[in-house]
Amino acid sequence: MTTDIIPRLKSKDEIRVLFVCLGNICRSPAAEGVLRSIIDSEEAGGKRWIVDSAGTYGGHAGDLPDKRMRVHAQRRGYNLTHRSRQFRQSDFDNFDLIIPMDASNERNLKSMAPTVEDENKIVPMIKFVKMATRYDHVPDPYYEGSEGFELVLDLLEDGCRNLYETLSRP
Ligand code: 4NP
Repeated sequence: MTTDIIPRLKSKDEIRVLFVCLGNICRSPAAEGVLRSIIDSEEAGGKRWIVDSAGTYGGHAGDLPDKRMRVHAQRRGYNLTHRSRQFRQSDFDNFDLIIPMDASNERNLKSMAPTVEDENKIVPMIKFVKMATRYDHVPDPYYEGSEGFELVLDLLEDGCRNLYETLSRP
């Protein structure tokens, strides 16, 4: 991990994580579902964690995740019920860690960060992924077939497990 925000978060009683993609109907609600599932399986109550997701684009606001993502996620045991919402400025106050899926999401978030401290909360999802992959981001599956959705879930399961373990207390 190349970021120094992580050691500070590790000592906190509460960790607030926001996953961000473009539409908030494919990648980030899936990341939210995967991390929630890990927390539920590891901690009774999971009270230390607040997990949410948002999109830099608000055109799908109010929608459930894309049907294809719901189907692929359900096959792995994740029930995705998040309703899409657009990222808002107040998310910088309400979250400790803001995790974009790709470089475009990251650029958009950085341009909105009001302070350097807020900018430092932005850590790309791929930084948490340890599996061997040719990707330097979590690719948008929207115009892809089934393999695109499976790839996203593979990357997110690996990344969320590492994120969880990195921030867990010893
Ligand atoms: P997401 O995928 O950013 O992973 O939710 C997309 C969803 C919608 C669109 C693009 C990507 N769109 O163009 O509407």
